[in-house]
Amino acid sequence: MSNTIQSVRGMNDCLPDTAETWQAFEAIVRDWLRRYGYRELRTPILEQTGLFKRAIGEVTDIVEKEMYTFVDELNGESLTLRPEGTASAVRAAIQHNLLYDGGKRLWYAGPMFRHERPQKGRYRQFHQIGVEALGFAGPDIDAELIAMTADLWRALGIAPTLQLNTLGDADARQRHRARLIAHYEQHADALDEDARRRLHSNPLRILDSKNPAMAPVNAAAPRLMDELDGAARTHFDGVRRLLDSCGIAYEINPRLVRGLDYYNRTVFEWVTDQLGAQGTVCAGGRYDGLVEQLGGKPAPAAGFAMGIERLLALMEAAGTVCAMPGPDAYVVYAGEAAEAHAWRVAAALRAAGLAAVLHAGGGSFKSQMKKADASRARFAVIIGDDEAAAGQVSLKPLRDTGEQMRVETDRAIDVLKQACIQQG
Ligand code: HAM
Repeated sequence: MSNTIQSVRGMNDCLPDTAETWQAFEAIVRDWLRRYGYRELRTPILEQTGLFKRAIGEVTDIVEKEMYTFVDELNGESLTLRPEGTASAVRAAIQHNLLYDGGKRLWYAGPMFRHERPQKGRYRQFHQIGVEALGFAGPDIDAELIAMTADLWRALGIAPTLQLNTLGDADARQRHRARLIAHYEQHADALDEDARRRLHSNPLRILDSKNPAMAPVNAAAPRLMDELDGAARTHFDGVRRLLDSCGIAYEINPRLVRGLDYYNRTVFEWVTDQLGAQGTVCAGGRYDGLVEQLGGKPAPAAGFAMGIERLLALMEAAGTVCAMPGPDAYVVYAGEAAEAHAWRVAAALRAAGLAAVLHAGGGSFKSQMKKADASRARFAVIIGDDEAAAGQVSLKPLRDTGEQMRVETDRAIDVLKQACIQQG
């Protein structure tokens, strides 16, 4: 192995069995997004570094130490592999004036890159499906975003729990910031190095610390919830009222601050205790200031992103990952006349919408049948000289009981289609 090249640490290959599971998952997600009226946006994986610095915040873990940033040697530009999708979605909306005629419901999917310490559920290349509702100010859209995720969990057969908080508006956060600094200054001895460094630049981030030693001083910290202005409180009450009326349970977590700086008002995370330390499967909230901050006409916004790897791991734990079926037919043949007939039969099966693998590489019927079985095909379609001469095929069920039968090609297509329907 020492001489072979391996994939980059924290970046995984998705082999065919897994890729098929992803396809099944993505098909459910695409249909769910369509039913809620969200439309896909595709943006580049590389962006100018300044976009993420401005959007996510200079004093965040992502910008300070997790971005894959490099200088394009051809023109000296600093570029970054996207660590998340919200900044790109907002940049694209501004660049193409998408909000000229009102709000837009958008989604995107794809790889994101963060130079974190890899562990179960945490990768350096991971995949998100993100949803952004741009241009909507009311609590109804916050509740829609949360309710639609609850709907998806039912479809996927998983049950993460919802944590909810509000970060209020700028004035409240300013007041809270001053109180937080005073609190941490009073407990300077209890602060770790990270907290000391962030005390005056971004004290809210200290609340997000993963260091257990910081837990007591964080638990005693002043709560943003207590500083809320009337409008932010009314907004939060509106979100809660709608969630209550849809029967969506949540826990208010005043310590939920999120790791990116663009949020205001509603923030939420869907969490599970079944995946170990990396238990957040979906997270988001409102970010009313970001469009203006990135140079657009002020527009409110809210959204979330979910981690595909974590959701699939949770589905696996719940036993709801469905294995994709193999092909409908594996066509085996021997002899020259049989070869030409086998090609015609395989083409006819495919034209009828069936998945037909045509054996390649020759070999005895016995070895070909082994390949047919290993392919997980439902039926072997067997063509020897007799079948070729009669323009027929022999059909042998590989997964179910049943006799081998010799039939016309059209009849074989009917039988295979019937089997597909029964399989669902
Ligand atoms: P985030 O909390 O940084 O938010 O990431 C969202 C989700 O992506 C996480 O809850 C997790 O499921 C997944 N995730 C994050 N990092 C990793 C990793 N290293 N390995 C595996 N999965 C990971 C955002 O990215 C925001 N853009 C969400 C948002 C959209 N807010 C508003 N709109």
